[in-house]
Amino acid sequence: MNTVEKYRRYVNTYFLKSVQPIVIDRAEGATVWNTEGRAYVDLFSGISVVNAGHCRSEVIEAATAQMRRLVHCSSYLYYSQPTADFAEALASIMPSPELRVSFFGSSGAEAVEGAMRLAKQFTGKSEFIALEMSFHGRTVGTLSITGNWGRKKKGGPYLPGVAFAAVPYTYRSPFGPDPDTCVRECVRDLERAIDLRTSGQVAAFIAEPVLGEGGIIVPPPEYFKRVKEVLDRRGILFICDEVQTGFGRTGKMLALEHYGVTPDIVITAKGIADGFPLSAFTTRDEIARAFTPGDHLSTFGGSPLCCAAALANLEVLRREKLPERSAEKGAQLLEQLRALAKQHPLIGEVRGSGLMVGIELVSDPDRKTPAAEAAARIQASLLEEGFLVGVGGTFGNVLRVQPPLTISDEDLKRAVSALDRALSQATS
Ligand SMILES: Cc1ncc(COP(=O)(O)O)c(C=O)c1O
Repeated sequence: MNTVEKYRRYVNTYFLKSVQPIVIDRAEGATVWNTEGRAYVDLFSGISVVNAGHCRSEVIEAATAQMRRLVHCSSYLYYSQPTADFAEALASIMPSPELRVSFFGSSGAEAVEGAMRLAKQFTGKSEFIALEMSFHGRTVGTLSITGNWGRKKKGGPYLPGVAFAAVPYTYRSPFGPDPDTCVRECVRDLERAIDLRTSGQVAAFIAEPVLGEGGIIVPPPEYFKRVKEVLDRRGILFICDEVQTGFGRTGKMLALEHYGVTPDIVITAKGIADGFPLSAFTTRDEIARAFTPGDHLSTFGGSPLCCAAALANLEVLRREKLPERSAEKGAQLLEQLRALAKQHPLIGEVRGSGLMVGIELVSDPDRKTPAAEAAARIQASLLEEGFLVGVGGTFGNVLRVQPPLTISDEDLKRAVSALDRALSQATS
């Protein structure tokens, strides 16, 4: 049996429309090779994970050295140097020195669940407000606060006490495209959600600074400042889900830096260790102390192996100024894609922050009819041309470009030309 046949027989993929028809053998930087040795440019980074590039030598060396000493002994039962070192390093990228204490898990959803639990224990309240079209993971708790209903089918019943507030998505906002109006009305809707859609026992508001799975939705610059004012007046915590946006992805080390706000809890995962499974939620000591003995643990969380990799990854991101490079390259890419949009009415909107870029496809630009099939066709054409790209969004019609931050200008230029051809093909 070959790889694909074994997948069909032994790997549960029934939850997918299809697996991309490529068997990946190895990778380096922004390039992956299939088992026949054909090279592809990776524009999706394993769902926005390998920000410092695939198989980054410094990360692999740190992990290999750590593996030879100690892989696992449970970092919560015994002290471990790499875990301590990375916790210190993670505190150093937070927007306030008070955000200092981290709990480590292995996946984004695990960290979101833990943050929810901590918020409940700290506030003594149990309700949550999240955004429409948001995504926070695939466990029951995280799906309960996920506003993207397409992801929730048949998984309920979900936790009670969750209300959703309007998402600041200017392209499809019922309040119109003007960012100021959108912010004003979305903040009003948040207040209505707190007052009218909960029983007033709200522990926290949770949001992604840029909504990834929802379709790379970038809230206007004023949004989170205004939200924070509302939350502070009501004594509600702000949990910032940086799982997809962290570690340089949006042009800053953390995306919340674009908004000038300090949340109460920051959740990180994905790009944290360049592919090694690690996640964290980081908070102030007074909040962290709401956990009492026996309340929480994670067997694999904060393993010395993943923390050694994470530490090396952070050093690379800093030394090579990858967040700044992400901002520069992202701005260039947006410019090129916006030029392309002028020639292809299939492109409804191009938007993004750093190298987190979404291209929303619509079959009718006036009615903004989502063109999900075209997105799938373009993804297939790009694969044939040698480019891996993501497809997502609430309506399945957004091409997601989230390459390693180390990608070359040349590769990005070639990707834009390939996309130009794929768009022409999709409409011919
Ligand atoms: C914003 C956000 N939160 C949480 C998650 C869940 O992370 P994981 O798949 O590692 O559980 C994701 C995954 O895409 C995400 O984008």
